[in-house]
Amino acid sequence: MENQVYPTPLKNKYRCGDFPLNSSDLFLWTDDLSVATQSVDEQHRNLIGLINQLHAAIRDHHGQDIAREILDALTESAQAHFMFEEGLMRLTFYAGYAAHKAQHETMMEEMRALQDALDDKSATINVELLHSHKNWWEQHIRVSDRSFSAHYEKSGLGEHAKTRKGAGGPAEKKLAWWKFW
Ligand SMILES: [Fe+2]
Ligand SMILES: [Fe+2]
Repeated sequence: MENQVYPTPLKNKYRCGDFPLNSSDLFLWTDDLSVATQSVDEQHRNLIGLINQLHAAIRDHHGQDIAREILDALTESAQAHFMFEEGLMRLTFYAGYAAHKAQHETMMEEMRALQDALDDKSATINVELLHSHKNWWEQHIRVSDRSFSAHYEKSGLGEHAKTRKGAGGPAEKKLAWWKFW
């Protein structure tokens, strides 16, 4: 039972660090998932934590209601995360913005379709489905997010720029607007 850390109500509790990762998890964090931008890494770790919570709920037969609650938190966190990344992309005139956004939209449509299917009882969340979601996130972070991260660092708005205290300019603007997370 020591791994059972579902917050109640879960939506109001999710934040970075609430979900310790351990070796029995479906989705393990590895350094090659790092995008070298701390704020985005923290968001990814939070999302991975929710996927692991969802997996644990299904694996340990805690019922579709608990699973639905975690799925709602995952969907909400993913939406906020996608908006955050897309904001950074627009801010830095990222050429891959449209293609990257389309990937985000596909995943959001999948999660919302699953919510609807659970509501009308035409589907359940199972381990196979979670493997498929895990694979999507792993591939998306490793390829698409890292690709954007390389652009972001070059743009002068990345993590390294923000350490130039008092320098003014775009790095300080970035610090101010990402506080909403
Ligand atoms: Fe991401
Ligand atoms: Fe992304």
